Amino acid sequence: MIDISMQYLGMKLSGPVAVAATPLSESIDNVRHMEDVGASAIVLTSLFEEQLALESRALDEDLSRGTESFAESLDYLPDLRDYRMTHEVYLEHLRQAREAVDIPIIASLNGTTRGGWVRFARDMEQAGAHAIELNTYALATDRSQTSAEIEMQLLDLVGQVCEAVKVPVAVKLSESFTSLPHLCARLEDAGVRGVALFNRFYQPDFDIEALEVRPTLHYSTPSELLPRLHWAAILYGHLNADIAVTGGVHSAEDVLKAIMAGASVAMMVSALHIHGIDHIARVLTSLRYWMERHEYTSLRETRGCLSRRSVPDTSPYDRGNYIKTLSSYSLRQTVAAF
Ligand SMILES: Cc1cc2nc3c(=O)[nH]c(=O)nc-3n(C[C@H](O)[C@H](O)[C@H](O)COP(=O)(O)O)c2cc1C
Repeated sequence: MIDISMQYLGMKLSGPVAVAATPLSESIDNVRHMEDVGASAIVLTSLFEEQLALESRALDEDLSRGTESFAESLDYLPDLRDYRMTHEVYLEHLRQAREAVDIPIIASLNGTTRGGWVRFARDMEQAGAHAIELNTYALATDRSQTSAEIEMQLLDLVGQVCEAVKVPVAVKLSESFTSLPHLCARLEDAGVRGVALFNRFYQPDFDIEALEVRPTLHYSTPSELLPRLHWAAILYGHLNADIAVTGGVHSAEDVLKAIMAGASVAMMVSALHIHGIDHIARVLTSLRYWMERHEYTSLRETRGCLSRRSVPDTSPYDRGNYIKTLSSYSLRQTVAAF
């Protein structure tokens, strides 16, 4: 009997494949479908800080000065009607998702400043969220702001949420922090139980004919998994917090790689948009088949087996890899030339 159960944020998961935040889970039928085909947890689509600020502006014109200036700075963002759910609708959807399935439902808050996070994190907990994922998608565009300040702001925000709720809190991180191991250790000190690697940045593209900058949203490809594997493998064994890999997970092989790097769970979105929710069942079948062929009985036993801590030669994770890769490339080029 093959055991593919995993442990994430203190919760037992039936398997290694979870669904990361996606509009697909905005339908309760889809949520049920995800559980039926073997998803072991679902992160709901995010509630955005900007949306909460817009809602509060709409409700109350007598805002305090600080909040008002923040709300005014939201004018370039989508109108309140452009967000798919108000926070009330979000909480109701969360309650319904909890009732509809037995797998863990993780609520997601997306923002960068203190705002109403603490209050809404509590509301999410009360509505039945098994855990909360904080997504701090932010870009440093101000030259006076130091990286240390950005990290302090993140730690402050996360610490407050962790103090305010009893359910486990995970943080979905961006890849662009300078010293990720140090930041993760500090997040752990602030009370974080899991880190999700990584947020995808949706860089705008340029239309050089219209001279316009246009938003883009492309689905991921499996090549995006590589930086996630690299960092999961470096972090594994140095953190008590669990690691989730999100980004570029498309196949059973990708799931196995994520677990072998040290992840407790591999999350999918693009693959489900491309192939449909049933794809999860196919991935799990292939994964079981692979384990059977290689005579593994427990997936948990493979966790971290290719992490930096576990491999005899750590150079592939370090600068050595960079040098080797570049020199072997020029060698191949020379051979090809003959
Ligand atoms: C259409 C769409 C909507 C998304 N919405 C959210 C969101 O609300 N909150 C969030 O944290 N991530 C969101 N994501 C990011 C995904 O949760 C996921 O981390 C990312 O797509 C990488 O995984 P993938 O390679 O499997 O797509 C969204 C992604 C897509 C494609």
